[in-house]
Amino acid sequence: MELRDRIAIVTGAASGIGRATAIALASEGARGVVLADLADMDETAAAVSKAGAEPLPVSTDVSDLASLQSLFARTDEVFGRLDVLHNNAGLGEGADVWPDVPPARCAAIVGVNLTGVVLGTQLALEPMKRSGGGVVVNTSSGAAHVPLPPQAVYAATKAGVVHFTKSCAPLAESHAVRVNCVCPGLVDTPMVYGTGGGDRPGDWLRPTFEAVTLLRPEDIANAVLDFVRDDSQIAEIVTVGNEPAKG
Ligand SMILES: NC(=O)c1ccc[n+]([C@@H]2O[C@H](COP(=O)([O-])OP(=O)(O)OC[C@H]3O[C@@H](n4cnc5c(N)ncnc54)[C@H](O)[C@@H]3O)[C@@H](O)[C@H]2O)c1
Repeated sequence: MELRDRIAIVTGAASGIGRATAIALASEGARGVVLADLADMDETAAAVSKAGAEPLPVSTDVSDLASLQSLFARTDEVFGRLDVLHNNAGLGEGADVWPDVPPARCAAIVGVNLTGVVLGTQLALEPMKRSGGGVVVNTSSGAAHVPLPPQAVYAATKAGVVHFTKSCAPLAESHAVRVNCVCPGLVDTPMVYGTGGGDRPGDWLRPTFEAVTLLRPEDIANAVLDFVRDDSQIAEIVTVGNEPAKG
């Protein structure tokens, strides 16, 4: 898909990977980028505007159906079409370690990482079909492929996102919607530091953190753009891994 004049929704756009993808879509010619997050999106909106697209921040809780429905309705009202959805908002155990995670947090992780991806994809189908077809890119994680005992809930949801993506292959035929998935390694975003309470990685993550070179959010944004551009990609899972630490 050629990006010029397209309309995209990016969830989790206030920060990290979502912010980088929103800016990259704007830089590559998108006409409008709808920003969906619960956090403040002013900074992302300004950067998207500077990169050449019209930003539309819509305060959204991706784990809540009514909130997601409002997001898609607002997108349709303002832009009248939808071409790209990056289901990217994510939540981990934070500074807690499984199984010592409050049950409400466990439910929230499932709600954001899995329910949000499923419902977002479902709600995108009709407007994308009406627009002549579209692309959904889900953000999973390297944690989908290997057990991650300290973040068991997070890992389970990310494995679910991979399997969901693969199961969405027929949507390319039935709705002209290609669903793909990126699995990042460790990326330099606030989520990583949240495992240690905000300014450092958690103890369980530190050996990995010190052994690898962190990816940049832009590295993942590039993988998302590759999926958007390449019409042959259907239900594909791409891993963007870490290189060993330098020195
Ligand atoms: N940082 C990493 O190392 C890494 C590795 C693999 C996968 N990921 C995945 O990448 C995605 C983006 O994370 P990030 O690393 O940029 O972290 P981040 O914390 O910078 O961004 C996550 C964003 O999701 C938003 N969010 C959380 N709950 C939400 C909700 N209910 N509704 C709407 N928005 C909500 C947050 O406000 C935040 O802006 C996540 O799905 C994450 O699991 C991150």
